[in-house]
Amino acid sequence: MPRIKRHIDEKTAAKDINGKVYIVTGANSGVGLETTRQLVKQGGHVVMACRRPEAGEEAAQSFAGEPGSYDVMQLDLSDLQTVRDFAAAFQGKYDRLDGMACNAGLMTHGSEPVYTKDGFEMSVGVSYFGHFLLTELLLDTLKQGEPSRWVIVSSVMHAGGPRNRPNVDLDDINFKNRSFSNTDAYAEAKVATVLYAKELAERLEGTGVSCFSVHPGWARSNFGSGGGPLMRFAMAVARPLTRSMSDSNEESAQSTLHCLLSDDAPNHSGAYFSQSSVLYRDRECRDGGWPMESPNPNAKNMDTARKLVDMSYEMVGLSKA
Ligand SMILES: NC(=O)c1ccc[n+]([C@@H]2O[C@H](COP(=O)([O-])OP(=O)(O)OC[C@H]3O[C@@H](n4cnc5c(N)ncnc54)[C@H](OP(=O)(O)O)[C@@H]3O)[C@@H](O)[C@H]2O)c1
Repeated sequence: MPRIKRHIDEKTAAKDINGKVYIVTGANSGVGLETTRQLVKQGGHVVMACRRPEAGEEAAQSFAGEPGSYDVMQLDLSDLQTVRDFAAAFQGKYDRLDGMACNAGLMTHGSEPVYTKDGFEMSVGVSYFGHFLLTELLLDTLKQGEPSRWVIVSSVMHAGGPRNRPNVDLDDINFKNRSFSNTDAYAEAKVATVLYAKELAERLEGTGVSCFSVHPGWARSNFGSGGGPLMRFAMAVARPLTRSMSDSNEESAQSTLHCLLSDDAPNHSGAYFSQSSVLYRDRECRDGGWPMESPNPNAKNMDTARKLVDMSYEMVGLSKA
């Protein structure tokens, strides 16, 4: 099977983005760090929104000498008060926002659900609800910065297979009254991100803000490393064996970068962009594409998308504008 490792084209990688301001969540590690590095290399200013600011500062030492700049700010997507605080602090400091990469995410470990401070199941709480609140609070700033871009990092896991398509359970999104599996919760959270990108693109049509979801690839990042010594050992053993199928963090940042920087991406607002993946059970999807049609019909259902967003306003304590 051919492996396509697409990189942003030379013209896109050479674009001077001096003066532009970006937010990248989860910028201290993996895909977020490499997304940030490229933006800084091209002269951009990146607000690195990190759960652990000290880890952000440490990671940012590796940008020394690049033409752009960075600012590490604290953001814990599992605590909505810090999301509100971050948005207020950002708006107090910056008067423009050219692009936002809602990149942070995680999969929990174990057979019991873990909940965020505000009572959301952790996967959907971080990947979706935290980013939802952050985005809605910064939407006017993003609109003022038009033409601007917004990207949310999903996963191939949202696609499932022909006989098992994940969907968001609008009646019990937080797994309070149904059996829990960490992989199901992660897959559903990532369906929510694809749906949100579509809804946001529809809502923002004509505003100059383009919205995208991406699967980054199988990144050799720190993803899954919080699972205790046994999990870390299993990952260390598996890594060399899966190297030919997986991607460097730099490769995995390319879809996000394409959406943030390429001239063509805004022609596809609302679309899902994905590198190749052996995990697409629909074989025709394995080579991915920019953009690529999600094989999961549930992730394209606009009725679900609108209901999800309506429900989310209430759940994060926002009133719909
Ligand atoms: N790795 C893959 O193969 C793969 C495949 C498909 C999709 N993805 C998605 O790609 C994105 C980036 O993941 P990665 O592979 O780069 O993994 P990673 O190296 O583990 O990076 C994840 C980032 O998310 C941050 N994060 C986790 N919980 C957070 C919270 N409550 N608030 C704020 N930030 C939080 C982490 O911060 P800390 O360092 O403080 O924990 C870290 O910076 C995620 O959305 C993931 O779901 C990854």
